Amino acid sequence: PQARQFFVGGNFKMNGSKESIQTIVKNLNSASLPSNVEVVIAPPAPYLFWASEHNKQSTVEISAQNCFDKASGAYTGEISAVSLKDLGIPWVILGHSERRTIFKETDELIASKTKFALDSGLKVILCIGETLEEKKAGKTLEVCKRQLKAVTDVVSDWTNIVIAYEPVWAIGTGLAATAEDAQEIHKDIREYLSTVIGSQSESVRILYGGSVSGKNAKDFKDKTDVDGFLVGGASLKPEFVDIIKSRE
Ligand code: G3P
Repeated sequence: PQARQFFVGGNFKMNGSKESIQTIVKNLNSASLPSNVEVVIAPPAPYLFWASEHNKQSTVEISAQNCFDKASGAYTGEISAVSLKDLGIPWVILGHSERRTIFKETDELIASKTKFALDSGLKVILCIGETLEEKKAGKTLEVCKRQLKAVTDVVSDWTNIVIAYEPVWAIGTGLAATAEDAQEIHKDIREYLSTVIGSQSESVRILYGGSVSGKNAKDFKDKTDVDGFLVGGASLKPEFVDIIKSRE
């Protein structure tokens, strides 16, 4: 099987100012980052272009946190994948649990947005994961499969998709999944994916997200199906660099 490049994403969510984002980008610019780690940071939409202009690290790329499934038109307030591409923003996060719960995005809408973003030439960080209730009901894998199936129904080439498994109960709570539990579900996710997209599943990165920190990132080091992280809170802090270096 093909080796999967370690990937660390930073999702700033709706946080940051020109000043604080400049500090983060400068910090990354001056850090000596491992050349074999793919790093993607996702500032809020108003700062995307600005962050991309200031980023000087060749291994760091910029991501939007959302975009719509139409190129242009009367969709006030929405972000076009085509505009992102036009501005040189190569990535977009789709299906984040906050989009699913707060903004009521359905599996089908997320799948449609994923397809549209890929067709527009973007790469997609596709988030999936169960809520605490679903976990308690033993439905973790079932939920992940359902969320993935919506996408496999409309997308056959997974080259430009990175999956982020983010259990909702672990997001922003300080209660990360254990490395063992993450490995187990990641393996199940990959196995499921292989039944639908075949051997392509071997090269799809599956990130873990949910309370990843500079401290716990190393715990996941020897977990073969954990191909990186999607980091929220800690991506706003200097410890983000420790997470990027956690496989050294
Ligand atoms: O997308 C990343 C995120 O949802 C995880 O957030 O703050 O728990 O690292 P956090």
